[in-house]
Amino acid sequence: MNDPRYQIEDTREIFTPALLVFRELLEQNLDSMIRIAGRPDRLRPHCKTHKIAEITRRQLAKGIAKHKCATLAEAEMLARAGVSDIFLAYNLVGPNIPRAVRLLQAYPDVRLAVTADHPQPVAVLGQSLQDAGLSVDVLLDIDTGMHRTGMEVGPDALALYRQIAVTPGLRPGGLHVYDGQNHQTDLAERRAAVHAGWQRVVPFRDQLLSEALPVPRIVAGGTGTFPVYAEINDPALELSPGTPVFYDAGYTAAFPDLPFQVAAMLLTRVISRPGPDRLTVDLGTKACASDPPAGRRLVFPDLPDAEQVRQNEEHLMLKTPHAEQYQPGDELLAIPWHICPTTALHKQVCVISAGRLVARWDVAARDRWLTV
Ligand SMILES: Cc1ncc(COP(=O)(O)O)c(C=O)c1O
Repeated sequence: MNDPRYQIEDTREIFTPALLVFRELLEQNLDSMIRIAGRPDRLRPHCKTHKIAEITRRQLAKGIAKHKCATLAEAEMLARAGVSDIFLAYNLVGPNIPRAVRLLQAYPDVRLAVTADHPQPVAVLGQSLQDAGLSVDVLLDIDTGMHRTGMEVGPDALALYRQIAVTPGLRPGGLHVYDGQNHQTDLAERRAAVHAGWQRVVPFRDQLLSEALPVPRIVAGGTGTFPVYAEINDPALELSPGTPVFYDAGYTAAFPDLPFQVAAMLLTRVISRPGPDRLTVDLGTKACASDPPAGRRLVFPDLPDAEQVRQNEEHLMLKTPHAEQYQPGDELLAIPWHICPTTALHKQVCVISAGRLVARWDVAARDRWLTV
């Protein structure tokens, strides 16, 4: 690849398929995230994209103290990296309730927040924490129209927030307003959608406050929408993008207004040339997320017109008129369409700085279970 940002001097120690992280670009993405937010303390980035303690520590060093995650393993990775303000944006049910208690016992400096959208687990969570002499913040999960989790603002949501407020072991932690459905490419349309949702949230928050129920934070936004929330001057707002650290081809296409650069790419090698217009590379579904439709899971900057004909677990078959320019062992860089689930397929990332392999970082929270 000719782009100087992605030069690598020596790849002999990089086994493929490998996920490479370009450290300078990662740093620039973190700085862009802070610049858009205005200040690091307005951010609560989601760690699901990287799941890596070293990246969490870079964020802490830049003044980002509040963090968000989706699994207890991610929460434990954050705690081990030194984060004390952790929001597990996930409804705890079943054995994950005693697990959260164990997490707090193992990491007593952590202040944990979780989400809820139903009275039954709220009652169980409260009882478990009370029994252990501990407490957590509970954010009411608002359904912004994504219909994944959460409650519509209204009387049931109000009743649940009241329940949280009176349950020993639980503290009313505010509102969780994730709007992952707002993927409008046009910024004006995205802005209008965010403001329409915000107009429903604010009167509900005011209703809670009028009952003397504290609403210490409203956690909002993914990559596409956090710049819009950042424009809203509300001291309770916390902005929770995840993808900007690495970025990917999907968001590059979806959000032309955003300044983030691709900081993670897959390195792959040609393993076969089964026909004059065919290349097979070692980039199967076990190395690259397969939630994007087949044929659109990767972008090859050096082979933009290559057709991704078929993908097996360890093989990707490409059709390209340039196939004869390649020999087995030749390397290609590929940009994942969706980086977050791609990262989770790799035990480690290879860190490239100034064109050199300088470190390998464990994708620690790719495991579902660390110690608690
Ligand atoms: C609850 C929640 N918050 C934040 C994010 C981060 O969003 P993005 O990937 O657009 O940065 C996600 C992404 O899935 C999410 O599910």
